[in-house]
Amino acid sequence: MANGIRSFQLNTGAQIPSVGLGTWQSDPGLVGEAVATAIKVGYRHIDCAQVYGNEKEIGLVLKKLFEDGIVKREDLFITSKLWCSDHAPEDVPEALNRILQDLQLDYVDLYLIHWPVRMKKGSIGFKPENLGIPTDIPTTWKAMEALYDSGKARAIGVSNFSSKKLGDLLEVARVPPAVNQVECHPCWQQSKLHEFCKAKGVHLSGYSPLGSPGTTWLKSDVLKHPILNAVAEKLGKTPAQVALRWGLQMGHGVLPKSTKEARIKENFDVFDWSISEDLFVKLSEIQQARLIRGTSFVNETLGHYKTVEELWDGEI
Ligand code: A2P
Repeated sequence: MANGIRSFQLNTGAQIPSVGLGTWQSDPGLVGEAVATAIKVGYRHIDCAQVYGNEKEIGLVLKKLFEDGIVKREDLFITSKLWCSDHAPEDVPEALNRILQDLQLDYVDLYLIHWPVRMKKGSIGFKPENLGIPTDIPTTWKAMEALYDSGKARAIGVSNFSSKKLGDLLEVARVPPAVNQVECHPCWQQSKLHEFCKAKGVHLSGYSPLGSPGTTWLKSDVLKHPILNAVAEKLGKTPAQVALRWGLQMGHGVLPKSTKEARIKENFDVFDWSISEDLFVKLSEIQQARLIRGTSFVNETLGHYKTVEELWDGEI
């Protein structure tokens, strides 16, 4: 097994760095420093989204890093995501313009449809009445394709798409999605979706690769899982490092979030060692459970998706 796995090739021909810094739940006031630390440690991929509410701070830090000659724009891979309230085709370019303004960039390397769910324009929060608009992915995707054509998004893709929804999009897409960013970690390995993505040339990016242990509304035990801990102990690595390295060896990207310097470093120390085949097999025995179920995106009476099963097309 080759050790490196520093990047993967997208169907656009571009390289996506395999480990990116996640910024979901990185608080304003901390996220800027985290991005600066990560880039100084060697990260070249930052995963952002408009809805995380922290892109302005990231933009300020990126500008300073460029000005100080710490990193060049062309050496970074920056992702952002279209929020659900901007799915209307006329809103798609406007939303990216706002993001580029906040990030102080001319283009993003990757722009994703954040969820396959359209919400009322301007809506914040998940009130049922905000969900009552028919989702029309092919129309939103056409607007995404125009952003790809314009060069403002060097690659376009999706997030939180099931195999079925991804397949439906591939049927109608002129520009096929480059990425599907989904929850992926040793306790939710996404085997079916990953096989499908591989067969179709769509790169899978794993969010919550550590199972988002700090999230109060989730009951996440990923890093405490006994098999993960046993493998970590054998390798002399931390459970977090094993979870991340597992992702790389599976062939997908990982987006660990941290705002702590020691952990940002720890999470990037995953390239010069590997999990042996016998230990890797043990990780495939872990019982599977989706953590992020997307219940806020469904509503029995008003939602485009009435149930969680419908949202994920049974992949739960
Ligand atoms: P913190 O930001 O305080 O370091 P995920 O990337 O799966 O969403 O997980 C992010 C959560 O995991 C955050 O709460 C983060 O906390 C914590 N975290 C990040 N890196 C590590 C690590 N190496 N060991 C333990 N917890 C970590």
